[in-house]
Amino acid sequence: MPNGPKPLSDALETLSKGARSGLNRAPMTSPKAPSAGSALSSLLKEHRRFSPPAAFAERAHVGLREEYEKLYRESLESPEAFWRRETRDLVFRRSFTTALEWVLPHARWFVEAELNVSESCLDRHVSGGRKNKAALIWEAETGEVVTLTYAQLLREVEALSRGLRSLGVVAGDRVAIYMGMHPGAVVAMLACARVGAVHTVVFGGFAPEALRDRIADCGAKVVLTQDGALRRGKVVPLKRMVDEALTSPATSSVEHVVVLRRLAAEHPEGAITMVANRDHDWNTLCEQAREASSAPAVVPAEHPLFILYTSGSTGRPKGVLHTSAGYLAGVHVTSKYVFDLRDDDVYWCTADVGWVTGHSYIVYGPLSVGATCVLYEGAPNFPDWGRFWKLVERHGVTILYTAPTAIRAFMRAGREWPDGHDLSSLRLLGSVGEPINPEAWIWYREVIGRERCPIVDTWWQTETGSILLVTLPGAVDAKPGSTGLPFFGVEPDIVDKTGAPIANGAGGLLVLKRPWPSMLRTVWGDDERFRRQYFGEIEGVYFTGDGARRDEDGYYWVVGRIDDVLNVAGHRIGTAEIESALVSHPLVVEAAAVGRPDELKGQALVVFVTVRQGVTVTPPLAEELAEHVGQCLGKFAKPDAVRFTDALPKTRSGKIMRRLLKDVAAGRESTGDMSTLEDFSVLARLRAEEE
Ligand code: PRX
Repeated sequence: MPNGPKPLSDALETLSKGARSGLNRAPMTSPKAPSAGSALSSLLKEHRRFSPPAAFAERAHVGLREEYEKLYRESLESPEAFWRRETRDLVFRRSFTTALEWVLPHARWFVEAELNVSESCLDRHVSGGRKNKAALIWEAETGEVVTLTYAQLLREVEALSRGLRSLGVVAGDRVAIYMGMHPGAVVAMLACARVGAVHTVVFGGFAPEALRDRIADCGAKVVLTQDGALRRGKVVPLKRMVDEALTSPATSSVEHVVVLRRLAAEHPEGAITMVANRDHDWNTLCEQAREASSAPAVVPAEHPLFILYTSGSTGRPKGVLHTSAGYLAGVHVTSKYVFDLRDDDVYWCTADVGWVTGHSYIVYGPLSVGATCVLYEGAPNFPDWGRFWKLVERHGVTILYTAPTAIRAFMRAGREWPDGHDLSSLRLLGSVGEPINPEAWIWYREVIGRERCPIVDTWWQTETGSILLVTLPGAVDAKPGSTGLPFFGVEPDIVDKTGAPIANGAGGLLVLKRPWPSMLRTVWGDDERFRRQYFGEIEGVYFTGDGARRDEDGYYWVVGRIDDVLNVAGHRIGTAEIESALVSHPLVVEAAAVGRPDELKGQALVVFVTVRQGVTVTPPLAEELAEHVGQCLGKFAKPDAVRFTDALPKTRSGKIMRRLLKDVAAGRESTGDMSTLEDFSVLARLRAEEE
């Protein structure tokens, strides 16, 4: 890696400047954007409160503030009673006597329980009256719709579990899933769970190199994929990308590739070749495996359910490990209370199954409560900016869960798109992935929710598995830009780097003081990294990597990452990964990646690059380097700007001072301590270049 981790002290300095750095705080300038009054607000001066609408609260699972408080108190004071009651709908083949065993930093939840997660998501509904209820409503980008009932989904999952078993997959084996937004991806995850295999879903937007690294890290035995997915009318050739990833000796653990045919004959560009003795057609495999068992493998509570790779501040992505009973409990209870799901809802989470939001709130959470979930294959603006609203109208979506970056893009596109559709089915709106600026929040409420729908701004992470901060929609007032109060069983705090609590109103580090059921258990293959990263910074507590403050009402306001992790359009990107990709280019000597506040994406990715001596820097070279990063990691990680410099600002001990580069990228003056900067002229030259 080109650069070492950033010390916490640097990070804190950044945090104290958080308000000024203006993450998401720039008012939307689009003329079509929000009403005049709301555009003037700023996060730190935000005083508006919105009470749960009476009609919503009346029917809600938790309809009163006192009820929330009572349940919250119980969840902290009598966790065992709380979790025993709240998990009673789940199928535990053997129940637990010990709710939690906590040997810092390792938690074991529902210790003696035995289960198979797929039974709670499927079998219990099929035998419990939801057999013919729609589990998934899939809309292809082409507009074609396929609905799978709970009984049909179970049949598909059983068929693929037989197929997996016929390939020799047993409990504990790792299976990589590299698919688009297709019901097959949901089937794939649940079939792995059914046989006890540990899935690792790799977002279909990742490049073959990134897929290769993830397969190599977890030693996957099987890859489940599809010939291609459709995005903006074009084919994403997933199977061909798998072929490319598997040319590397690092992926020699892979014995089989199973390919679902999604593309019809009208897409010849998605044509694939099948490798003999390795590749299997999904349907043929399932048919041929009719004799194999589809019985759920009953596993212990702490049996690994999945690994999901996410970016950290240093090194390669980490394989966040989630286990069975605790994860299921976390996503089940939050789905029920945060989205207030009931049997007549049509719920749509717009995330991709390749990210944690898709895992927890497209698949495991909503299916565990028996919801009907919409799954959409394509882009939000294809063929035009009305697509989302057309989907809401067409399927009668009642609950919509999306990201601030999408909301801001819709604001910019103009309210005529949503205004042209009947959105009266909506009753609840959710936001996730990054801080939502109050302007976008108000627009979401007025233009999409028509002032009728409560908004839940949900804070959580890949590592937390489920939502931890939120205002319950029927019970607690929402404040635009605040993620609200702790969910049941969650004990957050704002502290300084020594762990000392920080007074309300001031900025600090967001930590979690006690374990919760869906927390990550370790980093796959690197428990030391798990300890260091999450429990090594501040003694005795889980450190989130986020800066935040708590107001006088106990509401949390998350500012964003304070480590070297960027949040670009809701995608978590490690600066270290970007820098590694850049220095792998033959002309690059050194690189530093930083975020710049961006009206649409929250943060834009800016890279500073030093090239080999004698190389002439030109705009085409900048484009080539940006393209190179896109090829190494995936298009979503392509830098927004490449800036050449003959040197990077460093401390005397050789550490790149990213804080200063951030200021340069944002075009603002640097304040704070610069006494460690080795060569002031570097900074001066970078600034001069701007003028
Ligand atoms: O910085 C926080 C931000 O996203 C990070 C987690 O990213 P990831 O693991 O990719 O998971 C995203 C989806 C859960 C957090 O550390 N974040 C997530 N939700 C919010 C948020 N920041 C502010 N408000 C949120 N609601």
